[in-house]
Amino acid sequence: MSNHNIVFKHFVSTKKLNAGMIMKLIHRGIELKNTDSSRIPQYPAHFVSNVFLESSTRTHLSFEMAEKKLGMPVISFDAKTSSINKGESLLDTLITFESLGVDTVVIRTSEEKYYEELINSPHLTLSIINGGDGAAEHPSQSMLDLMTIYEHFKTFIGLKVAIVGDLSHSRVARSNAEVLSRLGVKVYFSGPEEWFTKDFEQFGEFVPIDELITEVDVLMLLRVQLERHPADERFDAITYHDLYGLNMARYKLLKPNAIVMHPAPINRGVEIDDELVMSKQSKIAEQMRNGVFMRMSILEAVMNGK
Ligand code: CP
Repeated sequence: MSNHNIVFKHFVSTKKLNAGMIMKLIHRGIELKNTDSSRIPQYPAHFVSNVFLESSTRTHLSFEMAEKKLGMPVISFDAKTSSINKGESLLDTLITFESLGVDTVVIRTSEEKYYEELINSPHLTLSIINGGDGAAEHPSQSMLDLMTIYEHFKTFIGLKVAIVGDLSHSRVARSNAEVLSRLGVKVYFSGPEEWFTKDFEQFGEFVPIDELITEVDVLMLLRVQLERHPADERFDAITYHDLYGLNMARYKLLKPNAIVMHPAPINRGVEIDDELVMSKQSKIAEQMRNGVFMRMSILEAVMNGK
């Protein structure tokens, strides 16, 4: 089974990927998904570590699963017991990894664009994969979302995608809006209008949810990230759900071939009704499944750069 021919030194932002690279990553992700595990190429000499300085379930574990399916040795790292707690910088932590022989690190942190200093450092040659930086970008989530959309529709051209909810705090929304609009998708935004910040205007218009629901091919819901909101902000989950959430009445208005997405974790009963999370048109579980194969595709591309 052949590896794709994409070569990355680092994978930190979808903005650095042209449409051809994106499609190769997607096709490779789909190919890996449909390949018997005994035929998946193995890379036992490529050491990786997952440095998660912010909470994560899906991104952390699906990278680990992807690494293990590719036969890459995973060097464990626990932020809570690491010397980062003694004040060691991320740069010095990575110099340590490099000295130990680690080839690639996956990093999540609340610091936006943390990777710029690291990829320009003359003291590092290891590769960096961005597992999410603050509210800025989440490129591997974006790629798995693209894979999920492409698998269903077999194209991006002319699709209508609504990104709904906590736009201003969402790195997923930023990554997806930018890349989807470049791929020929008509992007719309919805949810509370005060969360539609100026930086989104370049990618699409704001439309109230009840005007969009019958029109869209993809309804992409976002988690309300209360941990990133001001402590004194008043948020009423029931009102949010009534005004912007996916309930059964709105679900029934979706086009029969439309899909519902959410990067998760989900606030059940806020962004989406409990009973709709695993509904027929929901791709939420499929997104998580695709995350493993897309991250394998990304890891291979970074490994090709070695
Ligand atoms: N979608 C996502 O990034 O989930 P985690 O925060 O659990 O990794």
